[in-house]
Amino acid sequence: MTASGTATRKRDLIDRVAACNTWVVGRFASTVEFYAQYREPYLPEFFRAVAERLGLDGHEALLDVGCGPGLLAIGFAPFVKQCTGLDPEPGMIEAAKEAAAQAQAQVAFQLGRIEDFATSESFDIITIGRALHWLDRPVALAVLEKIVSAKGWVLICRPTSVETPNTPWVKPYQKLCHSWSEDPERKRYRVNTDEWFAGSRFRAVEQILVTATRHVTIDDLVGRAFSRSTTSRAFMGDRQAEFAAEIRKVLEPFAHHGQLEEEIVANAAVFGFAASTPESIAAGAA
Ligand SMILES: C[S@@+](CC[C@H](N)C(=O)[O-])C[C@H]1O[C@@H](n2cnc3c(N)ncnc32)[C@H](O)[C@@H]1O
Repeated sequence: MTASGTATRKRDLIDRVAACNTWVVGRFASTVEFYAQYREPYLPEFFRAVAERLGLDGHEALLDVGCGPGLLAIGFAPFVKQCTGLDPEPGMIEAAKEAAAQAQAQVAFQLGRIEDFATSESFDIITIGRALHWLDRPVALAVLEKIVSAKGWVLICRPTSVETPNTPWVKPYQKLCHSWSEDPERKRYRVNTDEWFAGSRFRAVEQILVTATRHVTIDDLVGRAFSRSTTSRAFMGDRQAEFAAEIRKVLEPFAHHGQLEEEIVANAAVFGFAASTPESIAAGAA
C-alpha cells in the first residue's frame, strides 16, 4: 500500500472512532492474535487474591463483560459455579473459546454488547476488564443494575505494567508507543471508575491490588504494542517494521540476556449496591 493509501486508511479509522461514542466492531480485529499472548496479563496471584477477598465459594454466577480472548473469565472460572464471557467481536469470542478449551475451563461465551444483553438471570460477580471506556455508560449501567444480584459485585479490572527501579524501560517504551499512535480518543481510556458509577445504585466498596513480577522479552513488548487498537498492525499499515525496529532500539539498552523484568500491578475496583465490604456481608450486616 502507498503512503497516501495508508494515511487515508488511518484517517478513515480515526474518523470512524471519533464519530462513534460506543464500540466500533472490528476495531480489535487485527489485534486478536496478539492480545491474549502479549497484553499485560492477569497473573494467577490476582485470581487467587480476589477470590479469597470476596469469599468466593464455588456457588457464584460470573459474567465477564468485554471478555476479549477470555482472560478474566478463564482465570475466575475455577472459583465459581457458572461463568459466561460476553463480547461483540467475533474474533475475540473465537479466541476465547479456543483458550478456554486449552485451559479446560468451563466458560460459556456469547457474542454481543452489554447494552443489548437480554437475560432474566442475575450474576453475583460481573467483571469488566479494560473495557469500561467502550461502553455506552447510561445504557450499560441500567443493564448492570438489573442483572447484578442483591449482594453481588461489579469488578472493574486492569493490570498495569509499572515503572520501578528494576523496570526503568516502562516509561521510554510507553512514550514511544504514544508518539506513534494518533488516536484522538486516547483520553477516553482513562476512565475514572467512581465517576462512571456516579448517580447509579452502585457504591464503591474497595480496591483489591495485587502485585507480581515476571520476565518479558523485547519480542513480547513488540507484540504488546501490536495488541493495542491504537498501534495495531492495521493502524500501522506499512509502517509496522519501522515501528517494531524503533521499539527494539528503545528497549535493547535495558535488556539482560534478552530479558526485561516486569512488575504487574493488577487492580480490581469493587462496586456493589451497598458500600458493604465482604466482611460485613459475611457477618450479615449488609
Ligand atoms: C481491551 S479488550 C479487554 C479484554 C479483556 N476483558 C481484558 O481485560 O483483557 C476490550 C473488549 O471490550 C469489548 N467491547 C467493546 N464494546 C463492548 C460492549 N459494548 N459490550 C461488551 N464488550 C465490549 C471489545 O470487543 C474488546 O474485546
